[in-house]
Amino acid sequence: MLPSIELFLLTFLGLTAHATPLAAPSQVHHVERDAGLNSFLSILLANLPAINEPLTEATGLITAFDETLGTLTGAQETYNELGGSCKEWTVIFARGTAEPGNCVSASAQVGVLVGPPLFDALGDKVGPLSLTIQGVNNYSASVEGYLAGGDPTGSSEMARQIEAAKSQCPDTKMIASGYSQGCQIVHNAVSELEATTASWINSVLLFGDPMDGQALANVPASRVFTSCHSGDDICNDGILIGPAHLTYALNATAAANFAAMRGEEA
Ligand SMILES: *[C@@H]1O[C@H](CO)[C@@H](O)[C@H](O)[C@H]1NC(C)=O
Ligand SMILES: *[C@@H]1O[C@H](CO)[C@@H](O)[C@H](O)[C@H]1NC(C)=O
Repeated sequence: MLPSIELFLLTFLGLTAHATPLAAPSQVHHVERDAGLNSFLSILLANLPAINEPLTEATGLITAFDETLGTLTGAQETYNELGGSCKEWTVIFARGTAEPGNCVSASAQVGVLVGPPLFDALGDKVGPLSLTIQGVNNYSASVEGYLAGGDPTGSSEMARQIEAAKSQCPDTKMIASGYSQGCQIVHNAVSELEATTASWINSVLLFGDPMDGQALANVPASRVFTSCHSGDDICNDGILIGPAHLTYALNATAAANFAAMRGEEA
């Protein structure tokens, strides 16, 4: 834990004008790679754009912010590990709207803002070698998808991936997770699953959930961790993107602790 980062956060969540403008990746001189979660959080906060705009106008900024962070942190943005040897844990993650990626087959993109720091936090907690990590394939993460309540192709694909993990590795502890539109994908995917598969999911981790407060079919609420920052309009099913929606990496450790605790329960 870095108390200084948390203090900074408490300050900035109330002060949106504090943020510095976005630096283009090419202007950055000090590139740190694989320096872990605390370094990721410092870089995130130092480069946070001071925006408060409708999602329809913010997609370019979100994509650029992801690209800057990806360059500065060296975060891995594609995970396609399903189908390998069975590990104790499997996490399937759906990224947020406008996080880079495309609709091509097996794209498995996880974005930068929440996926990579969450995997770091989970690795710190349960050991990186006991994790299988998979991004949702065939999921465009477009604004149209968000406005439609979550991209239908991505939703069905996530359901298919959860089913595949269960049949290949029935003893793995499944973590279904998403950020922003990725939460809509999780809600939709779970509703498409057979009850026995949904109730097999060990935990659900949601960050900036537009469907905040809506139950997941056949997943007990005690297995669901939701992080919604006060002031994040997306959590009220709104459309405004501000710093409160871009900083869920700060809650990755709490989510990982929740998942690990859930995994210990009988
Ligand atoms: C993704 O979509 C393409 C085109 O519709 C399809 O051919 C492919 O099988 C899909 N891939 C996955 C992993 O579902
Ligand atoms: C997210 O994390 C920050 C920093 O630790 C904390 O202050 C905040 O209460 C957390 N918020 C939620 C909704 O989990």
